[in-house]
Amino acid sequence: MNGVRKGDAYRYPLRFVCSPHPGLGDGPVYLDYNATTPVDPRVVQAMGPYLAGCFGNPSSSHAYARTPRRALAEARGQVAELIGAGPGEVVFTASGSEADLLALRGAVLAARRPRPHVITQVTEHPAVLETCRALERLHGARVTVLPVDQYGLVEPAALDAALSEETVLVSVMAANNETGALQPVGELAALAHEHGALFHCDAAQAMGRIPVDVRSLGVDLLTIVGHKMYA
Ligand SMILES: Cc1ncc(COP(=O)(O)O)c(C=O)c1O
Repeated sequence: MNGVRKGDAYRYPLRFVCSPHPGLGDGPVYLDYNATTPVDPRVVQAMGPYLAGCFGNPSSSHAYARTPRRALAEARGQVAELIGAGPGEVVFTASGSEADLLALRGAVLAARRPRPHVITQVTEHPAVLETCRALERLHGARVTVLPVDQYGLVEPAALDAALSEETVLVSVMAANNETGALQPVGELAALAHEHGALFHCDAAQAMGRIPVDVRSLGVDLLTIVGHKMYA
C-alpha cells in the first residue's frame, strides 16, 4: 500500500478507540442496546492484532493460517464454555439473522420430508418468521405460528396440541426483543422432544442477561449474537 510503513497497521485500529461514537460522547444518548452494543475496549484490544496484522485464512495449509487457526479455536472454546456446549457444536456466522436462517433451513431440509411441519410463534424476530415463510414457499413446508397470551408467552398446551408426527422443528425465542418476555423454553423443548422434533431457540436477547445453558435448557440449536453483547 502506498505510503504505509511497516508497523503502521498495528497503530491504525487504536485511533478508533480514541474517538468515541457520538452516542457515547456528547451526542444524543444511545439507548438501543437490544439492536446492538458498542464494542468493549477489551474486545478491541484482543481483536487488534488479527484485524491489523495477523491476517490469514485459518483453513489454509501454509504458515499464515497457523495464528488465526489457533485464535479461532480459542474463541470457539470460549463461546462453547459460555453456553455449556462442546467446541465442535459452535458455528460462527456473520449475524444473528444468518444464524437463525442456517439453523431453521439446516434442520428442516436435513429432515428430508416431503412436507415438513415447523412450529414457531407470532412474536419471533423476522429472521425466524421470514425463514419459515421461505421454507413454505420454496420447500413445501407447513408452518404453524402459535399465538401468545397477554404476557407475550406461548402456552405449552398450545404447542402440545400443534405437535404431530410430521413436526420436524419447533423454534421459540428465549427473550423477546421488544417486550422482554421470557418464554418457558425448557418446558417447550421437552414437549418438542416428546414428539421427536428438534428445538431451536433464538437467544439473541437473552445471552448476557440471564443464564443460558444449552444442556439445562435442552435445546438442539441456539442462536446467540456477539454484537448484542459488546463483541
Ligand atoms: C431476537 C433477535 N433475533 C435475531 C436478531 C437478528 O440479529 P442481527 O441483527 O445480528 O441479524 C435480532 C436483532 O435485533 C433479535 O433481536
